[in-house]
Amino acid sequence: MQISTIAIIGGLGKTGGRVAERLKERGITVRAASRSTTPNFDWQDRATWHQALEGASAAYVTFQPDLSVDWAAEAIAGFAKAAIEAGVRHIVLLSGRGEDGAVRSEENLKAAGVDYTVLRASWFNQNFSEGAFVDGLLQGKLALPAGDVPEPFVDADDIADAAIACLIDPRHRNRTYELTGPRALTFRQAVSEIAAASGGIIGYETVPIEAFIAEMTAYGLPQETTDLLHELFTQVLDGRNSPVMDGVNRILGRQPKDFSDYARQTAATGIWSV
Ligand SMILES: NC(=O)c1ccc[n+]([C@@H]2O[C@H](COP(=O)([O-])OP(=O)(O)OC[C@H]3O[C@@H](n4cnc5c(N)ncnc54)[C@H](OP(=O)(O)O)[C@@H]3O)[C@@H](O)[C@H]2O)c1
Repeated sequence: MQISTIAIIGGLGKTGGRVAERLKERGITVRAASRSTTPNFDWQDRATWHQALEGASAAYVTFQPDLSVDWAAEAIAGFAKAAIEAGVRHIVLLSGRGEDGAVRSEENLKAAGVDYTVLRASWFNQNFSEGAFVDGLLQGKLALPAGDVPEPFVDADDIADAAIACLIDPRHRNRTYELTGPRALTFRQAVSEIAAASGGIIGYETVPIEAFIAEMTAYGLPQETTDLLHELFTQVLDGRNSPVMDGVNRILGRQPKDFSDYARQTAATGIWSV
């Protein structure tokens, strides 16, 4: 299989950055693209799409802000068309589990006439260290509208390894995989593991969804974002996504990283000790 340049849309992000680095280590040419790269790529500006894709044989795609927003499915259809015109033959799309809007985007990709692989991921471990939950942890208390529903958090390293295998091995084409960690934890249990690993005193509080959304609105978040948060903390966390799935094992032939290992390794970097 001839692999030329691989475009990484969201190439500086939690998973895209890892995919880009690991492909480079294998000697594969990558083009990481987002709003701050040259050439740039902006999901909100179709005029930027062709230049980021031209000459690439495949693409790893992370959509912003989330595939469940109402304009995502149409954007993915347009993106796939632009990719085909630019010569791309395979698109690996990072999706979420249990999101109705994300399924519409996935269907548009499958119908586009390009080889695809869909990776539906659980909530990432790295939300606690590279994402939205860091500030709360550093302040000693994470407060979220997530109660006792267990979530099988998955590690961004495993997502990246799985994405690379799918980009390289043609057996993964035109398939959909669900990527989870090896066990499900509640958010309270996850924070408790982080506190134990980092030696810090970090609490967890479940807040009502209405109060959380009102607080986010008061911070100035736009309605598209607060609607998205509402969906993520209600539909996505209503228990439908609690089962552990075997996507990482099916793609990589090994178990995914356990949350305890993530917490221990990440605590050692000092990120939660500031
Ligand atoms: N976090 C989770 O738990 C989770 C779980 C399942 C699925 N997902 C999905 O994963 C995807 C995000 O992947 P990720 O976490 O690897 O990425 P990420 O870390 O959230 O961000 C990737 C990059 O996106 C770029 N970006 C922001 N707005 C953009 C825009 N309008 N156009 C182009 N690029 C833009 C940013 O770079 P610039 O500032 O340079 O543009 C950022 O570095 C989302 O679709 C999300 O729904 C997330």
